[in-house]
Amino acid sequence: MADTKSAKLVLNDQSYDLPILTPTIGPEVLDIRKLYGQADVFTYDPGFTSTASCDSTITFIDGDKGELWYRGYPIEQLAAKSHYLEVCYLLLYGELPDADQLKDFESRVTHHTMVHEQMNNFFRGFRRDAHPMATMVGVVGAMSAFYHDSTDIADPWQREVAAIRLIAKLPTIAAMAYKYSIGQPFVYPQNELDYASNFLHMCFSVPAAKYTVDPALARAMDRIFTLHADHEQNASTSTVRLAGSSGANPFACIAAGIACLWGPAHGGANQAALEMLKEIGTVDRIPEYIARAKDKNDPFKLMGFGHRVYKNFDPRAKVMKESADEVLDLLGIHNNPTLQVAKELEKIALEDEYFIEKKLYPNVDFYSGIILSAMGFPTSMFTPIFALSRTVGWIAQWKEMIGDPQNKIGRPRQLYVGSNKRDYVDVAKR
Ligand code: SDX
Repeated sequence: MADTKSAKLVLNDQSYDLPILTPTIGPEVLDIRKLYGQADVFTYDPGFTSTASCDSTITFIDGDKGELWYRGYPIEQLAAKSHYLEVCYLLLYGELPDADQLKDFESRVTHHTMVHEQMNNFFRGFRRDAHPMATMVGVVGAMSAFYHDSTDIADPWQREVAAIRLIAKLPTIAAMAYKYSIGQPFVYPQNELDYASNFLHMCFSVPAAKYTVDPALARAMDRIFTLHADHEQNASTSTVRLAGSSGANPFACIAAGIACLWGPAHGGANQAALEMLKEIGTVDRIPEYIARAKDKNDPFKLMGFGHRVYKNFDPRAKVMKESADEVLDLLGIHNNPTLQVAKELEKIALEDEYFIEKKLYPNVDFYSGIILSAMGFPTSMFTPIFALSRTVGWIAQWKEMIGDPQNKIGRPRQLYVGSNKRDYVDVAKR
């Protein structure tokens, strides 16, 4: 980016030139890196509503047009024509692979899907009723103890191995977290299965019976992985970047991303959205919940609605809604009350002045839970599935940051509004 233009800031009778950085597409960026050094002032932006934390070549979002591109390819095309491991290759290396590159990449991932056998004991330290996200945060963080030979971030080869290990092992770990929570034995990955089929097999097969994955369900699962793969500088990706900026190893950084994703305002919304739809239960109760969502004194929010960036519609939600119809039809689930409530809730909300004025639309988490529930997953597995899907995005963004010569530790400042300097008072005099 050439900083050909600049903005002028006049402050305390001084004027400062702020270079304007020009993107490929999207808003221009004011470069304020030298502002504190020149003007002794900070900028103030809690929640980072107007802040670009980095430059990136990976994902582009246009919130007004409802566009999402991975390396320039629209999500609608990738969801329809590509598959998750090809999207992983695209996000990691920047280009779509040729046939040989794809075959090699898929083979490398396939041959890293097993986890260290000692990890089985690690799981046994958790209570059976532990939320699978708690287990995943712990187990993924512990990977730095099991795979110490791919933690040196200065070694490009170790960074590459860590990336492949994380993409390959997250489905195995998520499936193990699920099996552990329901008291069933762990199921090993099968190399002859594709990525999505392998995950479904590890979750739903049992030693006592043969389990054949339905290819149509595997396709729907794979599409869900693709829709969640990356999303620019969202909260969990920013967490991974900030953790990585200190030089922490990749497994610790991804564990930090999983922890952040768990929040109900972020990836935890898919679990909260389905629980909300089930709580509403029937279409006639929707107005009561719409009123609560609009009531300033009620903390209730319509889970699966709204987005910091999308102010028109979330393109992922559109694909997910189509997929929900397909999967329920495939499974012979007609007139699913939860899907009916979801569709009616969307219709009512989108015609309501409050939601129109605040630009609140269904996001990626609104319909995903309906599909996952129909597939047989409990709500507690929704965010672990989001986490395993997003691992490639986190890793691609982490690799981009580590490889950036400008990379330095992230260290924001603050607007201090606490006490002024004062002297200590002995307890006897307080
Ligand atoms: C994800 O960033 C990403 O890209 C995230 C993600 C990704 O792929 O990584 O897309 C995944 O996290 C999707 C979002 C999932 N979260 C939810 O569905 C939870 C419900 N949504 C809200 O919590 C909220 O919409 C956020 C957190 C998603 C966005 O919050 P913002 O951008 O900080 O907006 P805000 O909270 O300031 O809301 C603006 C206004 C507020 O009213 P006012 O204070 O202006 O009067 O809209 C209201 C909010 O009260 N509002 C809602 C609402 N969301 C916002 N009112 C009712 N229901 C909602 N869902």
